[in-house]
Amino acid sequence: MSDVLAGLYAIVGPKGLLTDQSEMAAYAIDWRKLFPGKPLAVARPSTTAEVSAVMAFCHHHGVAVVPQGGNTGMAGGAVPDASGRELVLSLARMNHVRGIDQVGMTLEAESGVVLQTAQDAALAVNRLLPISLAAEGSATIGGVISTNAGGVNVLRYGMTRSMVLGLEVVLPDGLVVDGLRQLRKDNAGYDWKQIFIGTEGTLGIVTAAVLRLMPRPTQRVTALVSVPDPQAALDFLVLAQDNLGDTISAFELISGFSIGLVHEHFGLSCPVSAGEWYVLIEAGATISGLREAVETVFEKALGQGCVLDGAIAESVQQASDLWMLRERITESEAKESKSVKHDVSIPIPSIPQFLIDAGQALERHANGTRVNCFGHLGDGNLHYNVLIAGHDAKDINRIVHDVVDRFGGSISAEHGIGQYRVDELALRRSEPEQVLARMIKTAIDPVGLMNPGKILSRREFR
Ligand code: FAD
Ligand code: MLT
Ligand code: ZN
Repeated sequence: MSDVLAGLYAIVGPKGLLTDQSEMAAYAIDWRKLFPGKPLAVARPSTTAEVSAVMAFCHHHGVAVVPQGGNTGMAGGAVPDASGRELVLSLARMNHVRGIDQVGMTLEAESGVVLQTAQDAALAVNRLLPISLAAEGSATIGGVISTNAGGVNVLRYGMTRSMVLGLEVVLPDGLVVDGLRQLRKDNAGYDWKQIFIGTEGTLGIVTAAVLRLMPRPTQRVTALVSVPDPQAALDFLVLAQDNLGDTISAFELISGFSIGLVHEHFGLSCPVSAGEWYVLIEAGATISGLREAVETVFEKALGQGCVLDGAIAESVQQASDLWMLRERITESEAKESKSVKHDVSIPIPSIPQFLIDAGQALERHANGTRVNCFGHLGDGNLHYNVLIAGHDAKDINRIVHDVVDRFGGSISAEHGIGQYRVDELALRRSEPEQVLARMIKTAIDPVGLMNPGKILSRREFR
């Protein structure tokens, strides 16, 4: 065993260090299997003090560190390069919900707590942790914070950032910064926690967090409708907002193509008569009358012609079946063929025109590609994923992102940059924005040991 491994072993003990290639295999490659890496080792500390000691040790020995939570990220941010010199630091053993305050509506958890475990802990005291995504059975609190994850409830509750009240982080040199405050209002100095949210482990390790909880809706109405086109989906959104207000938590656009994939790969059937596009809508409330209100909206929408057909879930099981049609899309796409993912933000009213323009651009420059489009329409976030049929992935990125630029959009709404979009980010952000990013990185991680090559390219930084 090398001196470095022996030093790490002395800090985290036998349960906390993996060095065997077969044991490290799951930590070495991302969920999409696009970025195979080779870890120096995998450290699995179980306390903040151990994380701090590992970081101080790595800082002293010049070892780069790649933080990893559930390894469900879509941008290759949680895996090491192939050099065999980067240490994966898994937070999986820091998995305790430390406490819940029902009155103050907060939950404190270590960063390796699986999102679903935290949601269940909140439900047990009749509160809601509204961060929700199809990977919630594996994604961790530290991971959703570090990616500022979105998911299906952003329309009502905001991104993960809006749920974070307090953070504990370990800096690249091992310094522990404890900001685990439960306060809703706190303007005392710089709100430093914001720079660790969504920065994908490039500035430090998130070890614990205090999250805001919400009242748990006692009624929930889930429905799937077919719509003639994306503009009709937006007309339906306006109608729903006018009549249901902020009870709407999810408003998801699903293409007929996506529904077809889910049917083909999981045998799931759609209860709504065939359409080019569908919307999955969910509303929740703690006062009565929600279902009647949703039914009224449907009648109006049918009358206006923006909805063609629809099914409102009659039971919890039916609601879950409708959600399966949405949540299985990513896995179906992975089974189908090689895809280039786009996680774009577009000003909401421009989405129908974006879809037309992007489709035409692909037809012109990338014949034979197919588009699996779905996403969080209520947030202006589309997953415009292209099944590439032999085309070059970089070319497809450029074609789609050029159209995104024309609409003043963003090349990542919720998944982040990781290593997947580093080159594209450098092309799309202005020089002053890039200068500022490098200043932040250099101030906090001057040696460049935190998650190298993620968000900022290695050559750009070091
Ligand atoms: P990881 O993948 O382990 O890490 C993600 C990034 O965060 C990496 O850069 C890593 O270095 C860093 N990191 C992880 N933990 C820490 C820590 N404690 N401290 C510092 N840095 C850390 N994302 C969405 O936003 N919305 C969705 O709807 C959505 N749906 C998904 C559906 C499926 C089927 C899958 C597979 C993924 C989906 N994702 C979605 C992406 C993914 O689930 C999220 O990005 C999630 O937040 C990642 O959590 P994780 O614990 O797996 O993090
Ligand atoms: C989703 O909304 O399901 C995701 O963010 C995952 C994906 O883009 O495949
Ligand atoms: Zn998404």
